[in-house]
Amino acid sequence: MIQRSPLAIPTVVTDFTGEDYQERLYDQYAEWQRHTPVFRNQDGVVYLTRHDDCARLLSDGRFGRQADDGSANPLVTTSHEAGALHSTIANWMLFMDAPRHPIVRRAFSQALSAREAGLPDSALRDLARQLIGEGGEAVDFLSGLAGRLPALVICHLIGVPAADASALGPWAFRLASALDSGEEEGMRAAAPAATAMHDYFSRFVVSDAARGAGGFLRELESGAGSDLAEAEIIDGCVFLLVAGHETARNLSANSVLALAKNPEQMQLLRDQPEMLKSAIEELLRYTGPVQKLSRWTREDLTLGGYAIPRATLVVGLIGAANRDPACFTDPHTLDLRRSPNPHLAFGRGSHACIGRPLALRETGIALDELLRATGLIEVVEHRWVPNASMRSLASLTLRMPPPSGPDR
Ligand code: HEM
Repeated sequence: MIQRSPLAIPTVVTDFTGEDYQERLYDQYAEWQRHTPVFRNQDGVVYLTRHDDCARLLSDGRFGRQADDGSANPLVTTSHEAGALHSTIANWMLFMDAPRHPIVRRAFSQALSAREAGLPDSALRDLARQLIGEGGEAVDFLSGLAGRLPALVICHLIGVPAADASALGPWAFRLASALDSGEEEGMRAAAPAATAMHDYFSRFVVSDAARGAGGFLRELESGAGSDLAEAEIIDGCVFLLVAGHETARNLSANSVLALAKNPEQMQLLRDQPEMLKSAIEELLRYTGPVQKLSRWTREDLTLGGYAIPRATLVVGLIGAANRDPACFTDPHTLDLRRSPNPHLAFGRGSHACIGRPLALRETGIALDELLRATGLIEVVEHRWVPNASMRSLASLTLRMPPPSGPDR
C-alpha cells in the first residue's frame, strides 16, 4: 500500500479583531475551507475549519486542554502574568484534563441537574413573559429577554439572589471577553472582575442560601462533589455563571436576528411551533454563540492529512465546521426543518456542554413566548462585538409589534 506523506501546513495571516469581522465571518470561513482547510497563523496556532477535523479535535485523546507547562491559559501566546484571572480559570473544569476533570465535571453536572429539576417550565414561561412585556417600536432586546433571562435562571439555579444578577452579569462578560481575546492586556484588565467574582462566591459558598436544604452547595457536596477543594467550588461557581450566562444570551439574540432576517422561516415556526426543537438545533448550527475551541497536541500526530507536532495549540473553528458543505446540504441556508443536524455548537467528547438541556429549554421557551406575544419582528439596528470566540451582539434593537390576529 502506498503511504501518503503528511502535507505541510500553510501559513495564513489572521486578524480576528476588525469591526466587521462578524459580518464577514461565514464568507471568511468558506474561503479558508476551500483553499486552506488547515492552516497555521502568524502566532503558530493551527486552525481547523472542516467538520471532520474539528470533531476529531474534540474527541481524540491525543489532544488535551493543558499546555506542556501545565498552564490553563487558553491561548498561551503571551506570558502568564494576568494573576487573578489565571488562578481563577485554573480551577475551571473547562481547562482541566483527566484525572481531575471528570471528578469536577460529574460533581457540577449532578448539582446542576438536581437544581434544574426543581425549576418548572411554568416558572420560566412567566419570567419570559414578564421580560417580553408589551413589545414596542424600538425594543433593546439585549437588556430585556436575551440578557436577563439566562442571568436570572443561572443565578436562581446556583442560589444567588436575583438582585445580584445585574452586578454579576457585567463581570461575567468581562471575563468571557478577556478569554476570547487571549491577549495579555485584556487578561490583565479582566483580573479585577475575576477577583470580584472570586470574592463574591467565597462569601456565597458559606451563606445560608447556598448551604440550606436543596441549595446548590448542599447538592454539590452531598453528591460527587464531596471531595472538591474549596477553590474548585468557588471558581467552579464563577465558571458556571460565566458559561451559563453569555452563551445563552447570545443564542437567543443571534437566533432572533437570524429569524428576523429570514422572515419565511420565522413564519414557519409561528405556524408550526412543534418544530421548535429542530429549529433551535438549526439556529445553533447557523449562528451559534461559540465559534472556536482550542486544545493542545500531546504528541506528534497527523490530522486531516496534515502533520502537527506535539505541544501545538490547535483551534477548531466550530462555526466553520457547522457550515461545512461536506457535512451539511446548503450550509448557508437557515432551514429550521434540517435533520439530521450533527452541529458542534455544544462541543463534543469529554468537555461537551453540561448546560445543553438547560440552554435548549430556556431558549425554546423564550422563543416560543416571544413569537406568541408579537407580530412580525423586524431589526431596527444591530452591531456585533468584534470578537472571535463568541458570536455576540453588542446591540440589537427590534421592532416588536403586538400580534396581528388571534393566531400567531
Ligand atoms: C446556548 C448556550 C450554550 C452553548 C452554545 C454552550 C457551548 C458550550 C461548548 C461549545 C462547550 C465545550 C467547550 C470545549 O469543549 O472546550 C461548553 C462547555 C460547558 N458548558 Fe456550555 N454552552 C451553552 C450553555 C451553557 C449553560 C446554560 C451552562 C450552565 C448552566 C453551560 C455550562 C457549561 C460547562 C460547565 C461546560 C464545561 C464542560 C467541561 O469542561 O467538561 N453551558 N459549552
